[in-house]
Order: sequence, then C-alpha cells, then structure tokens
Amino acid sequence: MNIVSKIDDWQAIRKTLTHQKIGFVPTMGHLHAGHLSLCESAKRENDVTVMSIFVNPTQFNQKNDFEKYPRTLENDIELLRAQQIDYLFAPDEKSMYPDDYAFQLHETAISRELEGEFRPGHFNGMLTVVLKLLNLIQPSRAYFGEKDFQQLVLIKKMVTALFLPIEIISCETVRAEDGLALSSRNSRLNPSQREKATQFPELLTSAFSLPQIREQLTSAGFKVDYIAEKWGRRLGAVWLDDIRLIDNISLEKV
Ligand code: PAF
Repeated sequence: MNIVSKIDDWQAIRKTLTHQKIGFVPTMGHLHAGHLSLCESAKRENDVTVMSIFVNPTQFNQKNDFEKYPRTLENDIELLRAQQIDYLFAPDEKSMYPDDYAFQLHETAISRELEGEFRPGHFNGMLTVVLKLLNLIQPSRAYFGEKDFQQLVLIKKMVTALFLPIEIISCETVRAEDGLALSSRNSRLNPSQREKATQFPELLTSAFSLPQIREQLTSAGFKVDYIAEKWGRRLGAVWLDDIRLIDNISLEKV
C-alpha cells in the first residue's frame, strides 16, 4: 500500500493510471469493519483501490465534536495493510482547503431536513469535501455506506447535478452482533451506554408507530432528534448523553 499525503504526489500518480478502473472509499478514519467491507467491494469491482482518510472540518457543526473525533491514523494504516488496498490518500487540512474555505458547495433542499435540521451546514461541508476528493481521485466508482443514508442520497444527487462521470455504489450497513450499526463514534460509548444503545436499532425495526418509537426511546433515556420515514427507509437520530447515534433501516424490514 502506498501512503500519499501530498496532493501533487497523488496527481502525479493519477496521471499514470490511465486505463485502470479506480474504486474509491472516502473515510474520516478510525476504521471499522464497515469501512473494510467498502474496501472489499471496491477491490472486487475495480483494478485499483484508493481509500482516503481526512477528518473534514467543514462538516462538523460543533467544534467540540470535531475536536473529539477519534484520530487513529497509525492503527488505521495497520488495518489497511492487511486489506491490501493500493493507495491511502491522507492529505492535511491546509492542502485540502488552499482557498481558506472560501469556496463551498450549497445544496438548498434535502440538506436542510432531518440531519440537516439538527446539524446546520453539515451536508454542505460534507458535499464540498466529497466533491474535492472526487475531483482529485477521479475514480470510476465511489463507495458509501447506507448507514449515512441522507448523505448517500445527497452524493448521488450531486454527482447527477454536476455531471460527474462517477458511479456511486451504496453498501449495506455493517452491524455488531447485537444489531448496533458500526460507527467511528461508537468507541466513545462507555459499557453501560453501549448496552443501552442496542435499544435504538431494536426500536427502529419494531412494529411500533413513529410516535411510539419516539416515546419508548425517550423513556429509555435517549434524547430523540428525529424519527422519520423517507426514501423507503425509517431513519432516526438520538443522543445518549453527549454521544449522537444515527441509523436507518429499509421499510421492507419492518
Ligand atoms: O461518511 C464519512 O465518513 C464522511 O462524511 C465522508 C463521506 C468521508 C466525507 O468526509
């Protein structure tokens, strides 16, 4: 695996990859089995696999959340070596935002609801960095998990709206044995929070109505941001103390 941190170096490498199909997995690191399953799909379906690790400041609407986001590059590199991907692209903040954040993408509809209502600016920051990364990597296919379903919807729409010649591949959420969706933020849960967290996917997949799910979660000690149904999914976001969890399931599974 080649580790590339300078944008110029990546651009020189990219010029040599003229005929190969490139599969790209963008991440913010602190890798888990969910990310690795995206790598597996990318490796299976392409000639060259590239993963990026970049903790993108513009998609954090709370400074505290950005600061607390786990950064575990050394461990991530170890995990990736076993995966045998071709390139890890890990740029720094200054080189990803050489314009000092002057240019940013603005989506004006879907980015304002659900997650967008509770995390203003989050999706514009996410779309901005995904567009930058897609422009740099120039993949044939890019892989995203269904766990961040609204993110996936927005990226697909952006690629269509901006005529990017890239196929966006969605991959099923990977869950722990007890049903909790894997997330880089789960490592912040203490043992009792981790135990309680399983009630979130349990209730999301239950036959209860949306108000009943909200009520049950609230009485179990969660603070609920939203529980809603859209795009054939039931989606939710909750807080356990200062840790925010999001999840969604296909309505066919309810
Ligand atoms: O899903 C994520 O990890 C991030 O939102 C992404 C797509 C890597 C952009 O920073």
